[in-house]
Amino acid sequence: MAKKTFRKKIFRKKDIAAILHEAGTTNGGLKRTLTTSNLVALGVGAIVGTGIFVITGQAAAQYAGPALTISFIISALGCIFAGLCYAEFAAMIPVSGSVYSYSYATMGELFAWFIGWDLILEYLFACSTVAVGWSGYMQSLLHGWGFDLPHQLTQATFNHSEAGWSFTGSIINFPAVFIVAIITSVLLSGIKQSAWVNSVIVVIKVSVILLFVACGLSFIDTSNWIPYIPENTGEFGRFGWSGILRGSAVVFFAYLGFDALSTVAQETRNPQRDMPKGILISLIACAILYVVVTAVLTGIIHYSELNVDAPIAYAIDHIGAGLSWLSPYIKLGAIAGISSVILVMMMGQSRIYYAISNDHLLPKIFSKVNERGVPQNATVFAGIATGLIAGLFPLNVLSELVSIGTLMAFGIVCISVLILRKTHPEIPRPFKVPVVWLFPILGAFFCLVQMLSLPAATWIRLLLWTLIGFVIYFLYGIRHSRLNNKSK
Ligand code: ALA
Repeated sequence: MAKKTFRKKIFRKKDIAAILHEAGTTNGGLKRTLTTSNLVALGVGAIVGTGIFVITGQAAAQYAGPALTISFIISALGCIFAGLCYAEFAAMIPVSGSVYSYSYATMGELFAWFIGWDLILEYLFACSTVAVGWSGYMQSLLHGWGFDLPHQLTQATFNHSEAGWSFTGSIINFPAVFIVAIITSVLLSGIKQSAWVNSVIVVIKVSVILLFVACGLSFIDTSNWIPYIPENTGEFGRFGWSGILRGSAVVFFAYLGFDALSTVAQETRNPQRDMPKGILISLIACAILYVVVTAVLTGIIHYSELNVDAPIAYAIDHIGAGLSWLSPYIKLGAIAGISSVILVMMMGQSRIYYAISNDHLLPKIFSKVNERGVPQNATVFAGIATGLIAGLFPLNVLSELVSIGTLMAFGIVCISVLILRKTHPEIPRPFKVPVVWLFPILGAFFCLVQMLSLPAATWIRLLLWTLIGFVIYFLYGIRHSRLNNKSK
């Protein structure tokens, strides 16, 4: 009997009609203010960041050469399959928990918790990774102006190499903690204000990138594109077609962020119409931007020279006196651009805490919403957790975890679309994934293949994180769940 009750508890589902009713009435205290253009700006704000300003050059130099443009297109296709699935869900169940809420309604509580915990991993570590990237760019800009921070405040406290963990001698990565604190205070000022700050940043960063493209065009030397697909070196993933594939897995990071849009569905004026538009337009716009920037970058400078921390600024410096005025703007654009990635990802992180806590699987304190319509405690907690992780840990450990967590979330969304089409065909779907028997399967396949290409150590960390999650669920969530009264 006890076994039966236990099984009943972990598989209990939230009623979709009840979720939609709550979102349509009290809306949990959140305010519906975001429009389509806000969403596209938030999407671009979350997507364009470290990927384009750092990873592009490194991936071209190490894996794909000028053909990194093809890698970007392959990676975009995978993301668009997942993006279509996100769009179907976000329009059908427009609530702040994203995949967590979708799976609570379709696959039951334990599975929802599992995926919610995975989303926390994705957003927490993505924000921290990007904050560490911000710190690097900021220090390089300050250095250019003749100002260096004391060594104890420049790096993470811990380092991780093949020999294991060690202390770096630094107290904390201060700039990383600093930017997280600033972003937290912006988020606390309200969703409308945050969206406004994001839009300003997006205009700056997109202008800087377009300026790079416009000025760089006349400095392209087409001989740098020959051969367009450099010959494979004999090692899998080093140039040739396998290099293009490896490159596409690496630049996948550059597209992350569009999924964070689905976490603000509950704060969108007309989510049924605007969510699919916001997700797909921002994803496609960024894909075009990435391909163009990569083509210009590898045209200006030979790909073999691009394995540097700030490849776009480096390419400008390479051109010489003619464009040297542009270099500081590129750095400022990168710093601004990376800030908005942190902003939207932290917004997503706080909305996940909010949604899970609203179901009482995390303490209720996280679902408290202030008079500005902001989940205040969830936002402050996201700030503290992100600041600590970004300040203490090195980039390499953080970034690996982001990819595996995200790929798993994307894969689950793709599969869930198929399941829900079978189990709940009657729910109105304002947006439907086209060719449903193919696109979600391709999306899930794409995610699985990329997950399998990640190192064993990353899988072990994912497993450890999942175990911690299950311990929390069985010690806390299962006993406090809001569905308890209904399932007894
Ligand atoms: N797509 C985001 C970036 O490139 C995570 O920074």
